[in-house]
Amino acid sequence: MAVSRVVEERPAPSELLGTEPRRQHVLDLDDFSAAEIEQTLETADAMAEVLGRQIRKVPTLRGRTIVTLFYEPSTRTRASFEQAGKILSADVINLTSSESSSRKGESLVDTARTLEAMGADIIVLRHSMSGAPYLVARHTSISVINAGDGWHAHPTQALLDLHTIKQRFKRIQGLKVVIVGDILHSRVARSNVWGLRTMGADVTLCGPPTLLPTDVLEAFGKAPGGLAIETDLDTALDGADVVMALRIQHERQTAGLLPSVREYIRCYQVNEERMGRAKETALVMHPGPMNDGVEISHGLAHGARSLVESQVTNGVAVRMALLYMLASPGVES
Ligand code: CP
Repeated sequence: MAVSRVVEERPAPSELLGTEPRRQHVLDLDDFSAAEIEQTLETADAMAEVLGRQIRKVPTLRGRTIVTLFYEPSTRTRASFEQAGKILSADVINLTSSESSSRKGESLVDTARTLEAMGADIIVLRHSMSGAPYLVARHTSISVINAGDGWHAHPTQALLDLHTIKQRFKRIQGLKVVIVGDILHSRVARSNVWGLRTMGADVTLCGPPTLLPTDVLEAFGKAPGGLAIETDLDTALDGADVVMALRIQHERQTAGLLPSVREYIRCYQVNEERMGRAKETALVMHPGPMNDGVEISHGLAHGARSLVESQVTNGVAVRMALLYMLASPGVES
């Protein structure tokens, strides 16, 4: 049976703006104001200008050291942080769990302290354990950027998604954004809900009841934009401006949370026909990696209505902006 309910209405736009001190960490978007998100997106615009130059190199972070410490696989996030750091002239060290002394039993905090003792300025951390970046931030004085922790948060993905939406629609406020898929286990969904609602978008979460949080307000907290839950995709898509499909992890089926991938495709795949329910101008997004033909149809993912490539491109500029905001000389936390 389809479930449809509005969880929270959108307040006045005047509540969206504020002034923020410089931050030391990027752990999630729940402590970002609209003004700080706006500032990050504007800085990303400036970084995109650098990316458009013939020689893509500026000395901004010369003498700074960034360590990417990844305990889970990644293509986009890791490569874009490395590229962002190198374009800003930082020294970038890449470590994965298989190459670090965690294989010999060293704790995450000890690894981070070791990197701090070597003079690293920023650790970009991906970890399967929700809260791991908070642990490092608490036990070291190094800047920490969360590159994805368990089911919890993926703030830099959400910022690049916000940047991509703003780039195409020239605004975020008032847009209807539908996020479809495994909401319950998605760190991308959680951070996007915070970011989108802080910027005044109305978010609808859609998926099978087994993959939706039971108490949305508890899971996502309060924020300016509206929040709704919908289990029927056609209803959710009605009047949508942006449709974000999430990756379906096949282990959800073995865990009994999905009847079958075929059934998921039938009910929840975002495809050309279903996009007829959204606005004519509606565009689709996917954080990647995609199961092409499962959560999104091949034609839509690679067609004119797709923002997937722009998301990847914008990832570099947004991560340059974050590294700059945390580590550039004269920018103190
Ligand atoms: N979207 C995302 O985090 O992709 P990667 O796992 O490739 O970094």
